[in-house]
Amino acid sequence: MSGIKILGTGSYIPPMVVTNEDFAKIVETSDEWIKTRTGMSERRLSQGEPTWYMGAYASKEAVSAAGLDGADIDLIIAASVSPDYSFPSMACMIQREIGAPNAMAIDVNCACSGFVYGVDMARRYLATGDVHHALVVGCENLTKLADYSDRSTCVLFGDGAAAAVIGLSEGTLYSSFLGADGNGAKSMVCRNIPPHNAFMPEERIKIDDGLPSTNDPYMYMDGKEVYKFAIKALPDALSNAAAKINFDVNALDLVIPHQANIRIIETAAQKIGLPMERFYLNIHKYGNTSSASVPLALDEAIRTGRLKRGDKAALVGFGAGLTYGAVIFEY
Ligand code: ACO
Repeated sequence: MSGIKILGTGSYIPPMVVTNEDFAKIVETSDEWIKTRTGMSERRLSQGEPTWYMGAYASKEAVSAAGLDGADIDLIIAASVSPDYSFPSMACMIQREIGAPNAMAIDVNCACSGFVYGVDMARRYLATGDVHHALVVGCENLTKLADYSDRSTCVLFGDGAAAAVIGLSEGTLYSSFLGADGNGAKSMVCRNIPPHNAFMPEERIKIDDGLPSTNDPYMYMDGKEVYKFAIKALPDALSNAAAKINFDVNALDLVIPHQANIRIIETAAQKIGLPMERFYLNIHKYGNTSSASVPLALDEAIRTGRLKRGDKAALVGFGAGLTYGAVIFEY
């Protein structure tokens, strides 16, 4: 089976820094609570930069780091749960911005697993031979979906984007596992515009979908339920991907997990039996940036030399949907 080659990466980190102390000024919380419960110290917030802008900036950097031009990209997969528009898609906006007229453009919504799903989808397209260079980008403006009167969620999220240009690499290590559990859909919810039209009767049809009934457009999270899911999903995704190719996870040089909560990563590390030093962490700087989280950490790990050519690495995501997934590859 062919593996992937990460040809270049890039990111967009909004300049506005919001610390735990800043949050303590608007909700009843403290630096100590946030740090000990999540591992977060600060996060970056958009000052009006749209999601597509962040995604395009990161994508341009990734294309340039790969030594390519926009015209060389055949496929764009954009992962986001906080797009600017229902349509056009994020991928089309990014295609326009980076000048990639030869690319097909697809959005995926797998929340915090979006980048991992995107990388695996890209590899499958690459394997057909129709696609030579795929751009996978995670971009989020989650802070526009935060309810700033709800201390249990608003402190957790940040904005940003990161991207990778991927090609095929014959004969190198690769495995993946992607999963979902729609029964957990109710644990993490952000509603869209409810059905309405000019002809709708007063007695509207109301269908109970089992999700929390709120009319506001902000994020709802059952933190405890998501936590329980995450501490199982992270190790399951990784060990399922490894089992497919009889790979010993102890041989991994680096695991790049979704940065949702340091305690989730610590618990998962224990379950898998890997030391924390093998897990890349930047949660203290950026908080939870959903589908931007894994590629932001990947880009940083590459730029700082923590991930080196020839290293065996894993990307692992889990999030709303519920979705989860892992990709094992050689960098
Ligand atoms: N500051 C101070 N106190 C707080 C805060 C806060 N920011 N938030 C909640 N509390 C309080 C609660 O009100 C509660 O008080 P009470 O005991 O008087 O009722 C107490 O702290 C404990 O609250 P818990 O919810 O039990 O706190 P917990 O230890 O579970 O941590 C957290 C909450 C951090 C949200 C945790 O549950 C978690 O990380 N869950 C997983 C989140 C996640 O992984 N999301 C990923 C998906 S993201 C995506 O898909 C877009």
